[in-house]
Amino acid sequence: MAKRKTKFMCQECGYESPKWMGKCPGCGEWNKMVEEVEKPANSRRGAFAHSQGMGTASKATPITTIETISEPRVLTESQELNRVLGGGVVRGSLVLIGGDPGIGKSTLLLQVSSQLAKKNHSVLYISGEESMRQTKLRADRLSITSEQLLVYSETSLEEISRTIEQTSPAFVIVDSIQTIYHPEVTSAPGSVSQVRECTAELMRIAKTKGIAIFIVGHVTKEGSIAGPRLLEHMVDTVLYFEGERHHTYRILRAVKNRFGSTNEMGIFEMKEMGLEEVANPSEIFLEERSEGAAGSTVVASMEGTRPVLVEIQALISPTSFGNPRRMATGIDHNRVPLLMAVLEKRVGLLLQNQDAYLKVAGGVKLDEPAIDLAVAVSIASSFRDKPTRATDCVIGEVGLTGEVRRVSRIEQRVQEAAKLGFERVILPANNIGGWQAPAGVQLIGVNSVSEALNEALGR
Ligand code: TYD
Ligand code: MG
Repeated sequence: MAKRKTKFMCQECGYESPKWMGKCPGCGEWNKMVEEVEKPANSRRGAFAHSQGMGTASKATPITTIETISEPRVLTESQELNRVLGGGVVRGSLVLIGGDPGIGKSTLLLQVSSQLAKKNHSVLYISGEESMRQTKLRADRLSITSEQLLVYSETSLEEISRTIEQTSPAFVIVDSIQTIYHPEVTSAPGSVSQVRECTAELMRIAKTKGIAIFIVGHVTKEGSIAGPRLLEHMVDTVLYFEGERHHTYRILRAVKNRFGSTNEMGIFEMKEMGLEEVANPSEIFLEERSEGAAGSTVVASMEGTRPVLVEIQALISPTSFGNPRRMATGIDHNRVPLLMAVLEKRVGLLLQNQDAYLKVAGGVKLDEPAIDLAVAVSIASSFRDKPTRATDCVIGEVGLTGEVRRVSRIEQRVQEAAKLGFERVILPANNIGGWQAPAGVQLIGVNSVSEALNEALGR
């Protein structure tokens, strides 16, 4: 028997080596090398060319002579999904949707499939995880009835490819990439080379036939999509579907998008009858806010092109053991000690022997500097045990000298606050001027954190 040719490959970065190594020389990660069975060289070359979306030879051309064509897009009924995708589904694109098991990926895609099918687009939903009957049960629960929606339960890529050929759908869903296998690759489904080859083949199908393909990818314990990072590099768009299992809200965000911005997020609510869109997220994020409690401040944060009002909560309490704790959920945890140091040095709050817990209510993650001032106000409010006014909204970036710096898109943020009945907006003084505040909103411009605290908490 001929000896099988094996090699080892890093699951993180794709580094190849003839022998196993504990530490990957490519990315320095430990225990990421897995055994892979080598394939004939020619098919790899093919896969590479196709994965770049080029079937034919191309030559260097002056950029001015290339024709500009906007990508043909199809709008789904889901405004949230359309926005996250950058304005609808691009034909011929390969979209990866990642998320924890049970978060609702299959539900989302089945619902989107049905909406597309209702608009007379032919859709092929391939499940490698559930039987056709199981998919039907789910469809019944979601009240899906559409003849244009074909359901197919298969794991062999060869069969899948043949069925796509026969049915020539406009949209294909592959649920999930970890369950399907390429017959020419001998390693197990879900392994690095399987995932890579299957994705390359799906990319080829998408590009040559102009079919939009959605693939589902499961997320590992570490939080990245199982299989190599390569998977994310290969596809056009990577979306993550997130949320806490105990909450019914789900957030769809783009982490990579060749056809749009990656700042957008879509919010859904998981109900008995499937996912429902949340058109006004600010309302739900503020729903459970307890008024008059110290340590709570509302900020208008931009999520992509949309302003969202969220509550930032802080709990400051004396440290009982040696080192004070600094914990944050939903905010960059490095910002917390930094803002506390600014409060200590520039405002004179004695925080060094205090534990600090920060939380963004509702399970959202905020990562823009415009939330700094609200974080600082929350910390000071909890520390002094003085509540902020329920009708105040606080916006601004904080610098190391305690100055409050200008933020982007102030008008939109203030408008969102006005829409939800906020009466005062505390904002960077530099942001005032050149625009009109909506009726009923008082703008309070501040230059420093201590000014902001005086306004928000009184002297
Ligand atoms: P699912 O789409 O199967 O998750 P994934 O494909 O990401 O693994 O979602 C399953 C969860 O959603 C399950 O816990 C039940 C819940 N669910 C509802 O609450 N309502 C519904 O209408 C459906 C179909 C599922
Ligand atoms: Mg599923």
